[in-house]
Amino acid sequence: MFLLSLVPPTILFCVSNGTLHCAALHRSLFPQRFVFGTATAAYQVEGAFDEGGRTQSIWDTFSRIPGKISDGSNGDVASDQYHKYQGDIELMMQLHVDAYRFSISWSRLMKLDGSVPELNADGVAYYNHLIDGLLTKGIQPYVTLYHWDLPQIYQDAFGGWLSQKIVKVYADYAEACFAAFGDRVKHWITFNEPQQFSVLGFGLGIHAPGRCSTRSMCAEGNSATEPYIVAHHVLLAHAAAVDIYRRKFKATQSGVVGIALDCEWGEPLTSSREDVAAAERHVEFQLAWYLDPIYNGSYPTIMHQHIGDRLPEFSKDEIALLQGSLDFIGLNHYTSRFISNGLVYQKTESMGHFQDQQVNSTVVRNGQKIGNQAASDWLFIVPWGLQKTLLWITKRYNKPALYVTENGMDDLEEAKPLEEMLNDTRRVHFYQDYLTSVLAAIRDGADVQGYFAWSLMDNFEWAAGYTRRFGLYYVDYKDDQKRYPKASAEWFSHFLDKMQK
Ligand SMILES: *[C@@H]1O[C@H](CO)[C@@H](O)[C@H](O)[C@H]1NC(C)=O
Ligand SMILES: *[C@@H]1O[C@H](CO)[C@@H](O)[C@H](O)[C@H]1NC(C)=O
Ligand SMILES: *[C@@H]1O[C@H](CO)[C@@H](O)[C@H](O)[C@H]1NC(C)=O
Repeated sequence: MFLLSLVPPTILFCVSNGTLHCAALHRSLFPQRFVFGTATAAYQVEGAFDEGGRTQSIWDTFSRIPGKISDGSNGDVASDQYHKYQGDIELMMQLHVDAYRFSISWSRLMKLDGSVPELNADGVAYYNHLIDGLLTKGIQPYVTLYHWDLPQIYQDAFGGWLSQKIVKVYADYAEACFAAFGDRVKHWITFNEPQQFSVLGFGLGIHAPGRCSTRSMCAEGNSATEPYIVAHHVLLAHAAAVDIYRRKFKATQSGVVGIALDCEWGEPLTSSREDVAAAERHVEFQLAWYLDPIYNGSYPTIMHQHIGDRLPEFSKDEIALLQGSLDFIGLNHYTSRFISNGLVYQKTESMGHFQDQQVNSTVVRNGQKIGNQAASDWLFIVPWGLQKTLLWITKRYNKPALYVTENGMDDLEEAKPLEEMLNDTRRVHFYQDYLTSVLAAIRDGADVQGYFAWSLMDNFEWAAGYTRRFGLYYVDYKDDQKRYPKASAEWFSHFLDKMQK
């Protein structure tokens, strides 16, 4: 059911080639085969944490440590998609989306207590039902293999991503996924936002597994080295999985494999040479950290210069496996910052990924804010930042295939009447403006092939628990996780309706 009265005025998208031509923002302005979808992640939406043979992940453990999640919550029930996926597919039908990006929970899919990992039949059945249910309705599955929820057993056995042992373990898991679902899944994403889990999980200690150098916050860890070690193993695991896909599955399944990287755009605070270089550095430390090894066979020169021997090295064989190991780049983009040349930090043991960049970051320039703030203190709304980030990737890596794999904004959880919570006009404008920015990037030469809104519905927002709502659908956590369309869901439904132009 849609609340038609909530539709905000449609903005006009105008192009000028001599005469001005304006049309309502509609999917027909995008390339014909452009894919629109929404995205979620297993731990944020599935719930059913102890059903169907699922075992613990590092997020089950981390969210139970007092003080780590702002509202003391966890993903035990989350949005309960495990039980409600059929209804959720109906919601996707109402949105007229072409695709759904979700992640597989490693500790649900695999039985890990024996001497060799085996498929867990209940886990396989759940994802089969989800995938088949989507395909029956013409919705393509885009599957993320790893969205932060490492099985706890690997954290305990060898330190998870800190150990090179993870590379083979991950590659075997990826192979099990390709074998089980690759007849129907044609778009794979090896990792979601490795920058976030390496820096927040091993540098700042505010995400699982909660390691950092500051002993008042973290029992163990080394912020100066561990994020780089983790990222190194992630890259090797990515390359191993892609190699397996290409050798064993590509010929029969003919799918593609990408990675989803997050980046906040860095806009130079001033036009000084130092600030321009600092802003470039800020983007390189986020994107080129992962993409240069794949496209250029080494970490970016600037990272070598700033990090020195804390940055691990690749062997010749590893570089050979890494180079070219991507069919598309996924970009998760939410916000932008003004960046200036910063301090040379004292090289202390708590030195980390941000300090290594030698930048200063601000949201104000000449008294003007870069954009309005959403609910989260890090999320400033800056639509032009998406266009700039897409074009930066396009230029540096010679026009690769790109997807916006996440983009969205949050509202605060508040004790307001439901109809006010559903009237998310700010989110409607957010999507109109960011989609217009994607169109501008395409016009300027970026090969953007799809766009996924984060998120289909409100869900467990990691360390912020349920205090932030990113969904197109509102989830009532107090009443059996019932879903209600927000105005943004209704807007998307019109925007994507092929009949509506
Ligand atoms: C690519 O890697 C080489 C060394 O392997 C380096 O000299 C060059 O600067 C790198 N290019 C970029 C754009 O970082
Ligand atoms: C960083 O920028 C802020 C805002 O412009 C300024 O107040 C602060 O002094 C700067 N810090 C450093 C270390 O440069
Ligand atoms: C929704 O909010 C906007 C302002 O953000 C307001 O103009 C409009 O009247 C509201 N609509 C409803 C149905 O409450």
